[in-house]
Amino acid sequence: MLVLGLETSCDETAAAVLKDGDTLLSNVINDQIGIHSKYGGIVPELAGRSHIERVHRVIEEAVEIAGVQLKDVDLIAATMGPGLIGSLLVGLNTAKGLSYGLKKPMVGVNHLEGHLLAIFLQKKIPFPFIALIVSGGHTDLYRVADFGKYKLMGRTRDDAAGESFDKVGKMLGFPYPGGPVIERMARKGNAKAHVFPRAYLEKGSLDFSFSGLKTSVRTFLKHREQDPSIKVSDEDVSACFQSAVIDVLVDKLISACQKENIPRIVVAGGVASNGALREAVSKEGQIYGFETAFPDPIFCTDNAAMIACAGYYKYLQNEKFPMDTKALGAKANLSIESDAYPS
Ligand code: KG4
Ligand code: ZN
Repeated sequence: MLVLGLETSCDETAAAVLKDGDTLLSNVINDQIGIHSKYGGIVPELAGRSHIERVHRVIEEAVEIAGVQLKDVDLIAATMGPGLIGSLLVGLNTAKGLSYGLKKPMVGVNHLEGHLLAIFLQKKIPFPFIALIVSGGHTDLYRVADFGKYKLMGRTRDDAAGESFDKVGKMLGFPYPGGPVIERMARKGNAKAHVFPRAYLEKGSLDFSFSGLKTSVRTFLKHREQDPSIKVSDEDVSACFQSAVIDVLVDKLISACQKENIPRIVVAGGVASNGALREAVSKEGQIYGFETAFPDPIFCTDNAAMIACAGYYKYLQNEKFPMDTKALGAKANLSIESDAYPS
């Protein structure tokens, strides 16, 4: 079964061809960093316009690299939310056009479900497991009982983890997105040079909060500017900030596993490509006897392979989907708990 996946929820225009759920034939990702970096963040209007210009070329490329033709595709899977509405509409409507034109079924995929199931591109994880999605827009902990069965256990009350990386990166004068730059800088820094606060919130809470940490970094940078005796480099700040984020993520992840008595962890989303986070989760996992799994970094940041994969399972789980494409609409705030698979 050949699935064409399309992802345009944010600033990546991406298309992929996936065979039988686990054999990836192509994975084309066209990012718009060059367009948005000078603004220090994503400009939604520019993102939508750029998807329109790129989406057909990206699909052609994905099909060509896969060595197949569009008519060979059995299913089209496109992100329907959450994300920037103008961006979502481009991918979803392109998919609808293809579905009508090729007379092939189509599924709308929740972007978060894509992140969550990206690991299945590489290996099958037994259910249930605890999943942490850490991206630019989300920091969510889920109990995953099966395909389509996701229970939200905790989420950020303010900034997402990736957003805090990007904001701190901006404060330090790094280009957008700040996450990968902070990771590189942190490798050369001393994580003990300064202590930034960790927000654990109320006892037993599995929610997150990163806005206080962000403010604390801003205040520290101001002090550093005014007081030349403070010898803490940008590399050190990066390392101290990163370890504050990671400490909280790992703590809540382990607590979620203990609370549900589930010894399996999947970490996904853009921030999951961070090597220090992967190391910390693996290390704690070993201590507690929990299995840990992370998609390869290329499947952590936004991509269409994960959408093709989630679309494949969604279709298999519910073949009665009549693919009422007229009823399929883009939803900026789509939740993964209620919408995952209609019954
Ligand atoms: O999943 P993603 O590609 O897009 C969203 O769905 O948001 O995640 C993007 C986020 C950005 O905030 C980016 O800074 C962060 O993931 N990110 C990282 C790393 N690579 C990407 N954060 C920390 N370390 C990284 N290596
Ligand atoms: Zn994402």
